[in-house]
Amino acid sequence: MTVYDQHGRHLRDLRISVTDRCNFRCRYCMPAEIFDQDYAFLPKEHMLTAEEIGRLARIFVSLGVRKLRITGGEPLLRKDLPEIITRLAGLNVEDISLTTNGSLLVRNAAKLKQAGLHRVTVSLDALDDDTFLYMNGGKGRVQPVLDGIDAAAAEGLTVKINMVVQKGINDEAVLPMVEYFRNKGHILRMVEYMDVGNTNGWNREHVVSTKELLQRIGERWPLEPVEPNYLGEVASRYRFLDGGGEVGFISSVTQAFCSSCTRARLSADGTLYTCLFASQGHPLQHLLRSDNRDEELAAAISSIWGNRHDQYSLERGTGKIITSAAKVEMSHIGG
Ligand code: GTP
Ligand code: 5AD
Ligand code: SF4
Ligand code: SF4
Repeated sequence: MTVYDQHGRHLRDLRISVTDRCNFRCRYCMPAEIFDQDYAFLPKEHMLTAEEIGRLARIFVSLGVRKLRITGGEPLLRKDLPEIITRLAGLNVEDISLTTNGSLLVRNAAKLKQAGLHRVTVSLDALDDDTFLYMNGGKGRVQPVLDGIDAAAAEGLTVKINMVVQKGINDEAVLPMVEYFRNKGHILRMVEYMDVGNTNGWNREHVVSTKELLQRIGERWPLEPVEPNYLGEVASRYRFLDGGGEVGFISSVTQAFCSSCTRARLSADGTLYTCLFASQGHPLQHLLRSDNRDEELAAAISSIWGNRHDQYSLERGTGKIITSAAKVEMSHIGG
C-alpha cells in the first residue's frame, strides 16, 4: 500500500526517536542552560515500550515505509535498544540505521550489529577537543567518538559522519575532518545549521552554505557531483576526483528538499510529526494503549499523512510561515 500527502509525496521513511535524553548538550540542539536538571524530559511511563515501537513500525511498513532510522536524543542511552532493533529487523524493510553521537558506541557496536542494524550515522563536529567540547557543552571528547566509529566499522556496519557547520565556531574544522574521513573511507556529510526548535538562537548569518563549503573543499581536493542513491536523498553527493571516496552536503537552508520529503517522525512518547519544524504532532499512544486493532491505527496514520502539506524549508523566509510559532525540539524528534 502507498499513501500520498497533499503534495503527492508518499510515506517511505520513518524516523523513530527512542528517547528525548542525551549525554551531550550541543548548543545547536540542547543548550545546557535550557536542558538542565529542571527540564521536563518524558517520564518513563510515557515512553513507548520496545513492543509498542515494533508494533507501530510494522503498521508503518504496511503503509509503504521502507527505511527506518532510530534517533534520540541519544538512542544508546536506551538499555533495550538491541531489543528494539531486533523487532525492527524482523520487518520487511530495505534499511535500518541509527543516528548517534558515538560516545557509547565502542561498547555497543557488536550488540547493535547482532540485533540486525545495517548502518550508523555518527555526529561529529570537529577533530580537536577544544572546538568539540565547546560545541557539545563540555560533555564529550573526540577520541571516544573516533574509537566508536572504528568499532562500528569493524563490526561491518556502514558508517556515515554528520558535521553541523557553524560560522566562526567550527568552520576551521572542515578541511581536517574531510582529510581524516577521506582516508578512512567513510562518507562525511556537512550539514547546514538549521533553525530547529526554539532554543538555539539560530540566525542565518551563522549558516555556512553548501556552495561555500563545496568551493573550499573543492579547491583542496577537486570534486564532481554524483547521482543520488535514491529519489529524495537528503544529502547531495560529490566524489573526489583522486578516488578518495565521497562527501555529502545537506542543504536544508539554502536548497530546500521538501518537494521530495517522504519522512515521518515518531517521538519517544508515540507522537507522529509530519515535519521536522512542526509546531504540533499527532498523538498515537492512546490509540496503541486502548483496544484498537492494527487496521484502525493504520487508518489513523493514513489520514494524518493524507492531510499533510508541510514544506517548512521551502517556505522559510517567504513570509508564508510564522517563524515565531513554537516548534518541536530537535531532541524530541531526532532531527
Ligand atoms: P541517510 O539515510 O544516510 O541519507 O540519512 P539522512 O541524511 O536522511 O539522516 P540523518 O539522521 O543523518 O540526518 C542528516 C541531517 O539532515 C540532520 O541534520 C537532519 O536533521 C537533517 N534532515 C534529515 N531529514 C530531514 C528533513 O526531512 N528535513 C530537514 N529540514 N532536515 C532533515
Ligand atoms: N542544525 C542542523 N543539524 C542539526 N543536528 C542537530 N541539531 C541541528 C541543527 N540545529 C544534527 C545532529 C545529528 C542530526 C540528527 O541532526 O548533529 O547529526
Ligand atoms: Fe545530543 Fe545529538 Fe542533540 Fe548533540 S545533536 S545534544 S548529541 S541529540
Ligand atoms: Fe520535510 Fe519539513 Fe524537512 Fe521540508 S522542512 S524536508 S517538509 S521535514
